Amino acid sequence: MTATLINGKTSAAALIERIAADTALLRQKTGVQPGLAVVIVGDDPASQVYVSNKSRTAERCGFHSVQHTLAAETTEEQLLLLVAQLNADPKVHGILVQLPLPTQIAAAAVIRAIDPAKDVDGFHDINAGRIASGAAHEAFVPCTPAGAMILIREVLGDGLAGKHAVVVGRSNIVGKPMASLLLAADCTVTIAHSRTVDLPAVCRMADILVAAVGRPELIRGDWIKPGAVVIDVGINRVPAGPGDPKTRLVGDVATAEAMERAAAITPVPGGVGPMTIALLMLNTLTSACRHAG
Ligand code: GUN
Repeated sequence: MTATLINGKTSAAALIERIAADTALLRQKTGVQPGLAVVIVGDDPASQVYVSNKSRTAERCGFHSVQHTLAAETTEEQLLLLVAQLNADPKVHGILVQLPLPTQIAAAAVIRAIDPAKDVDGFHDINAGRIASGAAHEAFVPCTPAGAMILIREVLGDGLAGKHAVVVGRSNIVGKPMASLLLAADCTVTIAHSRTVDLPAVCRMADILVAAVGRPELIRGDWIKPGAVVIDVGINRVPAGPGDPKTRLVGDVATAEAMERAAAITPVPGGVGPMTIALLMLNTLTSACRHAG
């Protein structure tokens, strides 16, 4: 079997087109323009790329887009002050503070300070709690798992019920909300992680396998159940070749090997990554619509 590649770029582009059209309609009917504020602290090059992608896409959607770039020495108090200003700003419907933050700032305190109604990342405890208790429709769902669910449904349609989904990774940002969403779709869900005994055997049970561990090509081809749908959330930078100073991106799954057994798989890059940004735009539009009543 050779797997179908799930093209996240195409799906994300279609979604962004719809968001731009709906944004124009919202403005026309209510005068409300969705606003997204993105905050970056420090000068981590990878974060800078992610943040400028987010701001650029927001502009393409027709949003009011603001970016706050703060120095690496910014204190937690200064960042909390900015978050409070953005919470109070009626032009801002979505606030995203790019992670990771410098060590002098407690990320949990900053996330808790964001108004849950503007938490378009879906990281606030209130949104996490709503998702965990099966009320995802009232929450902002974190963008990566929400995007992954759309890709899974593109392959399986309504056929998720009863499927065994294995999520490898237990982060608050991806693993845990991903498991909640799959559970809400009536999958049988296993969460595996670095301490799981016989991880290959657990993965081999998966009709749907979601890899979100941040370990380059950890999941090998013979860990895949024939016919499985494989969603690779990993984005890992590795040397392009032995001793090569150039780098390339790989996922958490050895894609070429996995393609021999899977029915469908997301590539890296071009799979889940573009969907994450598109879902951030959708959450911001949703926030603006809620605001417009
Ligand atoms: N850092 C890496 N991914 C993300 C994300 O989705 N949101 C935020 N805020 N920071 C990140």
